Order: sequence, then C-alpha cells, then structure tokens
Amino acid sequence: MSKYLLNQNSAAENIRLAKKVDPIVFVDRYLAPYIDDQSSFVLDIGCGPGVIGAEVAKRVNEVIGVDINEARYNANIFKDDYHFVCSNSKELPFKDNTFDLVYSRFLFQHIPALAKQTLKEMHRVCKQGGVILVQEIDQNMIKHHNMEKKLENLILSTVDQLIKLELFEPNMGSKLAPMFSELGLENPNIRQEIYHNFFGQVSSEIIARELKKVENSFVNIAKIVGEEKANYWKKGYIEHLKNPNSSTWSHLYTVSGRKQ
Ligand SMILES: C[S@@+](CC[C@H](N)C(=O)[O-])C[C@H]1O[C@@H](n2cnc3c(N)ncnc32)[C@H](O)[C@@H]1O
Repeated sequence: MSKYLLNQNSAAENIRLAKKVDPIVFVDRYLAPYIDDQSSFVLDIGCGPGVIGAEVAKRVNEVIGVDINEARYNANIFKDDYHFVCSNSKELPFKDNTFDLVYSRFLFQHIPALAKQTLKEMHRVCKQGGVILVQEIDQNMIKHHNMEKKLENLILSTVDQLIKLELFEPNMGSKLAPMFSELGLENPNIRQEIYHNFFGQVSSEIIARELKKVENSFVNIAKIVGEEKANYWKKGYIEHLKNPNSSTWSHLYTVSGRKQ
C-alpha cells in the first residue's frame, strides 16, 4: 500500500468518508453534464467507500470504482453494474480508451508523489472525446484566523513535514490545472469554490466530523511530532473551532478536460 496519512484500515475512516459527501448533490453538481448518456462507462479513482459511484451507477450503464485498499469493498454498495477493483492508481489495470468519464475526488492530495502519474493513467484509459475530472482541496488545514500562535506554528510546521514526506499536499487544488495542461488537456474547465468555511459558531456536527478527521490521522501525526504534541493539536484545533471569534477555511477546485 502506498504511504497514506489517514488510518486506512479503520472502519471509522470508512464511515467518516461516506458521511462526508452527499452523493446526489455531488453528482448533480459536478458529474451530471458528463453522464447524460445512459450507455456511459465510468471510472472512479480512489473511490473510498463507494457512495459517489453508487449514485453514478443509477444514472449510467456501468461504473468501476478503483481503490488501493481492499477494506473499502462493501457488498451492499458494489453490486449490479458497480464493480470494485483493488489497484494502485499509478498503474490502472484497464486498456487504453475504455471509459467515457474518469473522475477522482480527494485522492491526489494524499498521494502527491503519484498525482501526475495517476492523471496520466486516467487520461490513458479515457476514450477520445471522453472527460477527465479531478476535485481537490486547496489551502487545506493551513488557513486559520485567531488561532493560538503556538498551535498554528505546530500545525504549519507539521504540514511542512508531511509535504516533505510526500504524505500530503495542502495546495493540490491549484496544482490541478497545470497538470491537465501538461498532459495536453488544453483549456481545462476550472471551478473554484469555498470548501471549509468554519467561521464563528460552528455546528456540533462539524465539530464531530473534524474530530474524526484528526483522530483518524492521529497515529501518523504522532509519529512525526510525538504523542504529546499530537494531543495538543487535536484538543487545540477543536477548541479553535469552538471559538466564536475564529475561522478556518479552504477552497475547492474541480478541474475537467476532454481528451482530444
Ligand atoms: C480521502 S479518500 C476519498 C474517497 C472518495 N473519493 C470520496 O471522495 O469520498 C481517498 C481514497 O483513496 C484511496 N487511495 C489512496 N492511495 C491510493 C492509490 N495510490 N491508488 C488508489 N487508491 C488510493 C484510499 O484508500 C481512500 O479510500
């Protein structure tokens, strides 16, 4: 398995990922223009618990979800015309020009060293005239207002170390369009939105979700900064979110291009 920041094998991570996205909203908002044809064959790279692909499968002919972690397979999700393939995205086990739409959400930021190769593979297996779409966060975990200075420095220096270890890229969103151009996907469509927008009083649901995120990356963060600092991060970050005078934010990039 490639290097990965979050605890890959915990059931809690599966549940957190599944809860983090509303598949109907995601498909309507980002994929619908490209899956208007019932006969489409679609590929989801780094599909995680598979909830997005399951929604796509209702609207097209066939979907394949690829994930490096076989623990993501769930027979209740991957059924009928939705199949799970366990593979590393850097080398996809499919022939050239196979799929009408190849998309990936929130994978590249976790595999910065493999991002270009993964996009190249997505491009290879996409049909001519088909679409490649990638969605990633930008300024992830690094934009805070009114955070205690000591905590902010700890977070920023840890993120720096994660970047050096190639475990995480906080600015993957803004790196996508240049990667598309490098592959010859000229004039990619770029959509930029606010993603995290924790300002003032945030809901208990958001607090619980953010706590799960920190918990699920705790083991790897503790390996880098030690357990004491990792605990300080976890506690301090949640307190920061609860502070009505604080904010934390990030952007979302969705980049797509048609294979010529
Ligand atoms: C943050 S999750 C995103 C899941 C899903 N795309 C979503 O948006 O909810 C990233 C997923 O990518 C998978 N992954 C990590 N490295 C991978 C690789 N090299 N090839 C394929 N999948 C990988 C992980 O196992 C995890 O399920």
